[in-house]
Amino acid sequence: MRKKVTLVTGAAGEVGTSLVQKLISGGERTVLTLDLSSLPYELPERHSHIQGDILDSGVVARLVAEFEIEAIFHLAALLSTRAEFTPETAHRVNVDGTLALLRMASEQSQWRGDPVQFVFPSSIAVYGLPTPEAKKRYSRVREFEWTNPTTMYGCNKLYCELLGRYLSQHYKQLSAEEPVMIDFRSVRFPGLISAHTLPSGGTSDYAPEMLHAAAKAEPYPCFVGPDVRIPFMAMPDAANALVGLSTAPKENLSQLVYNVTSFSLSAADIRELVIAAFPKADITFEPDLKRQAIVETWPADLDDTAAARDWSWKPAYDRERAFSEYLIPNIQKRYR
Ligand code: SER
Repeated sequence: MRKKVTLVTGAAGEVGTSLVQKLISGGERTVLTLDLSSLPYELPERHSHIQGDILDSGVVARLVAEFEIEAIFHLAALLSTRAEFTPETAHRVNVDGTLALLRMASEQSQWRGDPVQFVFPSSIAVYGLPTPEAKKRYSRVREFEWTNPTTMYGCNKLYCELLGRYLSQHYKQLSAEEPVMIDFRSVRFPGLISAHTLPSGGTSDYAPEMLHAAAKAEPYPCFVGPDVRIPFMAMPDAANALVGLSTAPKENLSQLVYNVTSFSLSAADIRELVIAAFPKADITFEPDLKRQAIVETWPADLDDTAAARDWSWKPAYDRERAFSEYLIPNIQKRYR
């Protein structure tokens, strides 16, 4: 008998670290983590880790041979700045890797006669506002608006949303018998800020970097200008969103892809909040024009009404609580 598990790819990453803790503390699931690296945290017995590459067909074959995968949280990806340096590698990891897992999930759904759930974190990077005027005018963007990404990462995420939709509706065309399609669900995240980990290779990283640098008493040259504004969310809410969408009754979901967000801040707002907590913080603005140009195409805010309506999405941390109850105290503790 194969062990029934929930697979989390990219489990050693920022979102993975937070999500795996949440899934394990929920107590109901047995978790199988997969990452290129070893895990930066301990897994209690009953859960397992495989160190490997989603692009390695041997690894995917091993997953299926040893485990019955009931649900997948597919987090492994190269973020937006890094992807601009190695676009073809990013395409391989972000698209080919996702396709391999989607295919595996489709085959497993057929085999089980029961849909495998595939939860996919997408991103604000799927949006592309053409001008600063458009960004001002269309400040709270809905899921079907302005999906014209300008980065490789944004293109990859948008296309994988579409692949998920395709395989959840049309796999029957490839299958001779009674079709059982995957249960694909996706959230588009804003910039995420964790008190415990630092991201690498993202373009919204200036927010967490500013905070962590201030706590370490290191100077921080912010790579976007003070007026650049995008939405953000505290990391525990990212895990809440993934689990909230995963556990929502299917019949309540009127779409496959949902915006989620919490608060919208300019880089100057973040600097102010950081200085209020760390009065000696040395934060300057030294825009990197290429990175700034990416963030300038992302919406100033996301409309998450559909998520609130269909699966009662509500962030636990608004701007005030995110800083005063989650970020500042935990970051202070971390570097004390
Ligand atoms: N935070 C991500 C990045 O900056 C976007 O989803 O790449």
